[in-house]
Amino acid sequence: MTAETTKVPFAGHKKIEKNVALLGVLAFGAVIVGGIVEIAPLFWIDNTIEKVAGVRPHTPLEQAGRDIYIREGCYVCHSQMIRPFRDEVERYGHYSLAAESMYDHPFQWGSKRTGPDLARVGLKYSDEWHVQHLKNPQAMVDGSVMPQYAFLAERDLNAGDMSAELKTLNVVGVPYTQTDIDKANDDLKNQADPMADATDLQKRYPKAQVRDFDGNPDRLTEMDALVAYLQVLGTMVDVNSAAAQEDLAKEKGR
Ligand code: HEC
Repeated sequence: MTAETTKVPFAGHKKIEKNVALLGVLAFGAVIVGGIVEIAPLFWIDNTIEKVAGVRPHTPLEQAGRDIYIREGCYVCHSQMIRPFRDEVERYGHYSLAAESMYDHPFQWGSKRTGPDLARVGLKYSDEWHVQHLKNPQAMVDGSVMPQYAFLAERDLNAGDMSAELKTLNVVGVPYTQTDIDKANDDLKNQADPMADATDLQKRYPKAQVRDFDGNPDRLTEMDALVAYLQVLGTMVDVNSAAAQEDLAKEKGR
């Protein structure tokens, strides 16, 4: 083949490929433009995630349960993000809204599901079911490959200073009030204590479920915290309420 018969579709490209400096400058330009397109919207993130009625920060007990969920690597097998596809919505319920995980640090989305999605598992089962299932999944679901977590019921909840944790979350944008932070360690205990007066806690954390979660009211265990966390998942937003439908319509209209 001679040089005359070789057709170069875009001759300029040859020039770029042969000139390292030019290639460098153009690649740099492409990265800058791409970077601006990706990064600039983050400065307006407040406008990108709309608030939806009902979404509130986790209570200290739920947050402590969340920490155990992360510590035990539950996210390795479970996602918390229902995608807007028919098969997912029919199996797990209404697809997840961005606002539902706006206070999650780190979020628990994910695409790896060895077990089912847990975004709306709250109140799907009784506390008792969760306790038995976590202790021995195979006893509840034949052939389950989920590991056993019976030790959670034996371990006292040692969550550390929840005031400090809430304060840290506040720094990254979770709207805990000063009262929430000051009362965090009391809230942690009160939520799992049926004898405690939890009116103030429920005023600050609407719809917070207050009861003994692990079936052993004498002790505050890691099981209490984890079950409290599982039982709140997906329950904050009433997706069928009029207000939520309005928010949803707005989300779709964007
Ligand atoms: C090795 C993978 C694996 C890990 C790790 C794992 N799970 Fe599971 N999980 C499964 C599988 C598989 C199922 C479905 C069978 C069953 O219900 O046991 C399941 C089911 C569940 C269910 C019932 C969901 C429903 O809608 O029926 C809950 C709740 C749950 N897991 C919570 C947890 C929690 C909490 C942890 C961490 C302490 C955890 N899982 C860790 C695999 C896992």
